[in-house]
Amino acid sequence: MAEVSLVRPAKVRWFSAFSIHNGLSVWCGAMFGAQVLFAFYLLCIYLLPTLVGATEILQQSGSIKGYQDGDAVGNFIFLSHVIPAALLSVSGTLQLIPSIRNNHLQYHRWNGRFFLTMGVLGAVTGLYLTWVRGARLSDIGAIGITLNGLLIPVFVALAWRFALLKQWNSHQRFAVHAYILINGVLSFRLFLMSWYFLNQGANGNNSTLDGPADIALSFACYCVPMAVYELCRWAQSAGRSVRSVAAVTVWVMACGTFIGMLTAAAFMWSPKLVAIYS
Ligand code: HEM
Repeated sequence: MAEVSLVRPAKVRWFSAFSIHNGLSVWCGAMFGAQVLFAFYLLCIYLLPTLVGATEILQQSGSIKGYQDGDAVGNFIFLSHVIPAALLSVSGTLQLIPSIRNNHLQYHRWNGRFFLTMGVLGAVTGLYLTWVRGARLSDIGAIGITLNGLLIPVFVALAWRFALLKQWNSHQRFAVHAYILINGVLSFRLFLMSWYFLNQGANGNNSTLDGPADIALSFACYCVPMAVYELCRWAQSAGRSVRSVAAVTVWVMACGTFIGMLTAAAFMWSPKLVAIYS
């Protein structure tokens, strides 16, 4: 008897460690780590050079059109697109932390307004840069991010509307979707680098980002996380098999995000910072 009672709880504990809830926590943690690293990179490459007027650094950032001498309007829109992204990344994740939400409601409200407003600003300026300024590597490769940009205002409006109506369940649902969409740009980098890691190099990718893998990843970077989130919501009231599928899926996302964070930091952001500042 004693042996059975020792073995059983251990098994339960092993499975419960890989629960949906824990998977979501690890996924959010990996996302937050990636956001902090991305924010640091953006501060070094865009904010600091803008503050000290080092336009030669802005020109070396490797952007498609980026900072260009004599284009005041284009430069203003470019900088107002990339600089707030650093703050935006981190502020979004703080909205998801339950203890902050529950204990600092006023902060949650103002940070939420800031995040959603800046998200819409990012979408509008991004659409301008892509289709008016022509900062795109290919037309087909830009369709994924364009749909992302069009969906942001829709989900922001829904999240805001349900907050005003005090319908918290629907508010949370659409706010999380808005968060995923607003982070699509970062997720694309994480998905791309995880893909390179899994294939040990390019596979269906090219330099104009319109290879089959590039196009699939440009949609997957927000469609997959949105679908996984819906799966988790469904799993709350579904049977064991759905819960198991949801748990495995969430852990795959968490591991993929973690790998994406490490590979993006090592092979995408660090080399550029070293090249510019050394
Ligand atoms: C709110 C969501 C968005 C955020 C936070 C965001 C953030 C960023 C960041 C940080 C960069 C610089 C990346 C780097 O240097 O590695 C960037 C570049 C860019 N983004 Fe966005 N973005 C968003 C939405 C969009 C959308 C919806 C589009 C297009 C439809 C877009 C188009 C662009 C373009 C074209 C560039 C490159 C500009 C150039 O290189 O000249 N962005 N974005």
